[in-house]
Amino acid sequence: PAAGLLDRFGRRATDLRLSLIDKCNLRCTYCMPAQGLPWLAKERLLSAEEIRRLVRIGVEQLGIRELRLTGGEPLVRKDLEEVIAGIRDDHPQLPIGLTTNAIGLERRAEGLRRAGLTRVNISLDSVHRETFAQLTRRDSLDAVLTGVAAAAEAGLTPLKVNAVLVRGVNDHQAPELLRWALEAGYELRFIEQMPLEADRTWEREATVTAAETRRLLGEQFRLRPSAEERGGAPAERFTVWDKRDAATAEARGTVGIIASVTEPFCAACTRTRITAEGRVMSCLFSRTEVDLMDLLRSGADDLAVAQRWADAMWAKPAAHGTDRPGFDLPGFERPDRSMSAIGG
Ligand code: GTP
Ligand code: 5AD
Ligand code: SF4
Repeated sequence: PAAGLLDRFGRRATDLRLSLIDKCNLRCTYCMPAQGLPWLAKERLLSAEEIRRLVRIGVEQLGIRELRLTGGEPLVRKDLEEVIAGIRDDHPQLPIGLTTNAIGLERRAEGLRRAGLTRVNISLDSVHRETFAQLTRRDSLDAVLTGVAAAAEAGLTPLKVNAVLVRGVNDHQAPELLRWALEAGYELRFIEQMPLEADRTWEREATVTAAETRRLLGEQFRLRPSAEERGGAPAERFTVWDKRDAATAEARGTVGIIASVTEPFCAACTRTRITAEGRVMSCLFSRTEVDLMDLLRSGADDLAVAQRWADAMWAKPAAHGTDRPGFDLPGFERPDRSMSAIGG
């Protein structure tokens, strides 16, 4: 494992995305069914100590340089502060990000920052109460908005907001959502909906594509592709000018568009994922999961864990293939798990 997390296609994974829990307090239609999913029993989740050990192995033996904690909803874990503080203790310089729906952040943002959290990405698809409730099946917009504000206040920045556009529900609100984010100083990113919802209703034709998102934003903004290097980052970034401003006015800020479906960025992927029950997934769409939990709980040494993790990444598929026609036809196997269970 000295070489790090390499795969057969020459990629090296340096970003670890670690899911802390499969449970969530929202029910976004593109992710979870209304009734929720059968949650993992608490004993099956990685403990704070096990997480700390995995991150240490990743950083010290496998070349991990960046960590993102995901869910389900990571704030549902009461020991999140303890998890972060332990990791921070071992790695004073490691960037630690959190992807969250922001419910509960109002109370916890400051403590999370003190524990060592670097920044947050917040999922928010609409700033209209009714649209938000329709998309998430919960009337929680106020809690989310106060959570976002608290995170910014606590310095968990640059603060990014992730929005999935769903045709006929919030697509027409795209320019308004952008205006809201620009005014607050958050970096908004629109994400194409991927076939990762538990109830399997995804259809290619219904996906609001990156090209369409640009057109929608174009109704009110002028967009120019940003010159900076993109690297393995999923979002294409644009500088935006408000068409209501004078022609000589300054740009208002930037927006990102993540074209996971129509222009997958798999060839430049730098990610390795671990699920809440301690299994390596080499890709969001990989069909195999490699268990590390049994090693952790049977007294295996660090080298054995690192070796199995590296072997799992070697088998990473070239690409997920959702851009290929036929993906949604019968016969193509999609992942068995929803985004919430894999860990956004
Ligand atoms: P930054 O470091 O802030 O850029 O984080 P990020 O964009 O990697 O993380 P975030 O959790 O905010 O994810 C944003 C979106 O990218 C997710 O909602 C997914 O739709 C998409 N995404 C995340 N990981 C993958 C991946 O491995 N493959 C693909 N195709 N899409 C992904
Ligand atoms: N397609 C694209 N993004 C998704 N997310 C959840 N489900 C999907 C999906 N089917 C996003 C959420 C959140 C991140 C963790 O994943 O909006 O920002
Ligand atoms: Fe929860 Fe995130 Fe899934 Fe929405 S997308 S139900 S916030 S895990």
